Amino acid sequence: MSGLARPRILVTRRIPEEGLEILGRFCDLEVRDSRLPPSREELTSLIGDVDGLLCLLTDRVDEAVIRAGRRLRVISSYSAGFDHIDVKAATEAGIYVTNTPGVLTDATADHAWALLMAAARRIVEADGYVRSGRWREGWYPTLFLGASVWGKTIGFIGFGRIGVAAARRAKGFQMRILYYSRRRVSPELEGELSAEYKPLEDLLREADFVSLHIPLTGETWHLIDEGKLRLMKPTAILVNTSRGSVVDQTALVKALREGWIAGAGLDVFEEEPIKSGNPLLNLENVVLTPHIASATREARTMMAVTAAENLLSVLRGEEPRHLVNPEVKAIRPLEEVKLL
Ligand code: DGY
Repeated sequence: MSGLARPRILVTRRIPEEGLEILGRFCDLEVRDSRLPPSREELTSLIGDVDGLLCLLTDRVDEAVIRAGRRLRVISSYSAGFDHIDVKAATEAGIYVTNTPGVLTDATADHAWALLMAAARRIVEADGYVRSGRWREGWYPTLFLGASVWGKTIGFIGFGRIGVAAARRAKGFQMRILYYSRRRVSPELEGELSAEYKPLEDLLREADFVSLHIPLTGETWHLIDEGKLRLMKPTAILVNTSRGSVVDQTALVKALREGWIAGAGLDVFEEEPIKSGNPLLNLENVVLTPHIASATREARTMMAVTAAENLLSVLRGEEPRHLVNPEVKAIRPLEEVKLL
């Protein structure tokens, strides 16, 4: 390290120690000791003083916050998704934005499957039935009938790292695999997974299970709306581990209530945390988890390490492994952000 003062970094929540330890070797850290996101005012005031920000997906890093970051060189998000950051404003301000894809792929794919299986086999309903003492008749042929998964058709909307990882698991269930994404994957990968590329509407009509693996952008907001839900089979199950707003939640509630589809497994919501009056909470044909798809000890530790390393790379004037806005390099070359 050069003789310069240590960079100051704001870490908006206590992330796993492994990440803090890496950062703390080279930087002075201000770690917010709260599970709640900072208010806009708090973030705007704290950011004025720091060279780097390590934030979570619940921190709204908008244009005003970015402008307040007078010394800011890097925003490292402890997440794969970056819809909470105004990347355009950051790029214009010469601020590097990084994320943590890859290390949470398998955890998220596993969770999509956990939701799919739980919804198909009515695990949560059945668990409540046993615990509440309502199980009085013993075994009988129609108790908690669910949907078979083996050999059925599954459609993946979004076929990046996580969609592909979830599809690999579907192979074990000998399922027919359909996918829709902006770009087709290589013929080799299609062959390996026996995955068929389909237009979105065809996928929705044909699949018994639909799993969403797309980022939230202007184009994907409410991609699954009333019209799309009406295309699905009445026996189909929808799984969402991406972002809540890729589905029109009001339409989804209607679909689940009126039986346009059979069920859903949801880890993400239009509003998080979900409010107590949300109609989803009263539906039995839906399994809900609180945005925990990446919540394994292993994935969360690796996210912390990756977020710390991304941040330090920028401050060292090196290209970080996961740069969201490579175009920033033309605006403010890496040598100019170097502090370490
Ligand atoms: C992400 O990283 O974007 C997930 O939603 C949480 O791990």
